[in-house]
Amino acid sequence: ELPTNFDGDIDLAIIGGTGLYQLDCLEPIAVIPPLETPWGVTSSPITISKFIGAGKENDLNDYFHVAFIARHGIHHEYPPTRVPFRANMAALKYLKARAVLSFSAVGSLQHHIKPRDFVLPQQIIDRTKGIRHSSYFNDEGLVGHVGFGNPFSTSFAKYIYQFRNVLQDYDSDEPCLLHFDKDKTVICMEGPQFSTRAESKMYKSFGGDVINMSVIPEAKLARECELPYQMVCMSTDYDAWKDEEEPVTVETVIGHLTNNGRNANLLASRIIESMANELPEFMKTGDGLTGTIKTSISTK
Ligand code: ADE
Repeated sequence: ELPTNFDGDIDLAIIGGTGLYQLDCLEPIAVIPPLETPWGVTSSPITISKFIGAGKENDLNDYFHVAFIARHGIHHEYPPTRVPFRANMAALKYLKARAVLSFSAVGSLQHHIKPRDFVLPQQIIDRTKGIRHSSYFNDEGLVGHVGFGNPFSTSFAKYIYQFRNVLQDYDSDEPCLLHFDKDKTVICMEGPQFSTRAESKMYKSFGGDVINMSVIPEAKLARECELPYQMVCMSTDYDAWKDEEEPVTVETVIGHLTNNGRNANLLASRIIESMANELPEFMKTGDGLTGTIKTSISTK
């Protein structure tokens, strides 16, 4: 039985997406039951794990704490439209996370992004239907505007990119690629149905590289919480744009989830190990986001 409370501060928060309901590289020391917040209850319990960097064994203040939350719930009970995104992000902020590493299964809109490859997008095109709660600043009397021109943390993406060589296809023993440049774009659609062929081709023509159903509002809320945020997109299918192929089905997606889960574990382990040895600069300084909300809120 693990403790159900934790009174320290989190360093890194990890959000797991479809197929990633826990991370085996974590050994939880506490499990916080789904947390009540002013924006509802979190989608899952939050597990806390602790790590210590090499050579830091005698310094109790130097533990590196990781929180993990399952976006869709541990039994995948929340479809994308119903995920309590605001509660989840507020809980991670409350636990004092310094950065958020988010994993998401995506469809690929490009030939060269193969199923089982990963992508670190730097841009988003929002195609959700406006029915999700996507801000903490929508209530009367509380007005806040925040820059979203660069929706991800490029410092964080570069940090993750160092470990690209760990990705592997376990069936063929070939490496899998981690795609990263400043224009890599994730399209976010409402779902839960996948796109039509025509829509899929339109998203390609928009310049989309991958497509999912959860980066909006997650990225917006992370920004409003002043949290450095990077999504790791894990490709599971070619969506519907390839005329010579069957459009994406749930079975295609599931077929690649196990491989992607193993790679997500490898990538997360390497990131955590490295951060526990030395906290990266962007996590010490807040990546330039600290205070951005305060200066943009006006109240009567
Ligand atoms: N998640 C995984 N594959 C997807 C696709 N093709 N479209 C939207 N979300 C997805």
